[in-house]
Amino acid sequence: MLTTIILVVVVLLLARSLLSDVNLNPFGEKAKEDDTVIEGKFTPITLEKYNGKDHPKIFMAVKGKVFDVSQGASFYGPGGPYANFAGRDASRGLAKNSFELDCLTPIDQKIDTLQDLLAVEKESLDSWEEHFDTKYPVVGTLHENDAI
Ligand code: HEM
Repeated sequence: MLTTIILVVVVLLLARSLLSDVNLNPFGEKAKEDDTVIEGKFTPITLEKYNGKDHPKIFMAVKGKVFDVSQGASFYGPGGPYANFAGRDASRGLAKNSFELDCLTPIDQKIDTLQDLLAVEKESLDSWEEHFDTKYPVVGTLHENDAI
């Protein structure tokens, strides 16, 4: 009797885990993709709205790559510790380990070339980039305001 109950429970658990892997909505995969806004090319001005306030998505640029960091809304969303990076090129701040506002280039100016960074700051920035590469999807690239 006990064996039968255990067997039934095991079968039910197996069935549940199998079913949860099956996508019951034929458009499920597409819906997931659509969840991420793929704009491809951004400028500092077009990127700015993706700050979790003006748009529900949160994007952040690092070394010319635009990441969708919406999953990290607790970091970058309104009121989060790194909210100032939302919708912005965060490269200099990440390189210098600083969220001071003077690390952010005004959005109507040329993109920061980062050329004056020290070797150690460049290394720090590269490791942040690796961190974001493994954690967040890339949704595009950052271009000068007058380039698009
Ligand atoms: C007061 C000192 C700081 C403390 C206590 C602190 C604490 C933390 C903690 C606990 C995490 C989460 C780690 C994880 O769960 O993966 C984190 C992530 C992070 N911190 Fe800080 N932090 C500090 C300063 C800074 C500064 C100065 C910057 C400026 C660049 C910074 C940028 C970040 C970023 C970008 C993340 C990654 C969020 C992500 O994975 O999307 N932190 N910090």
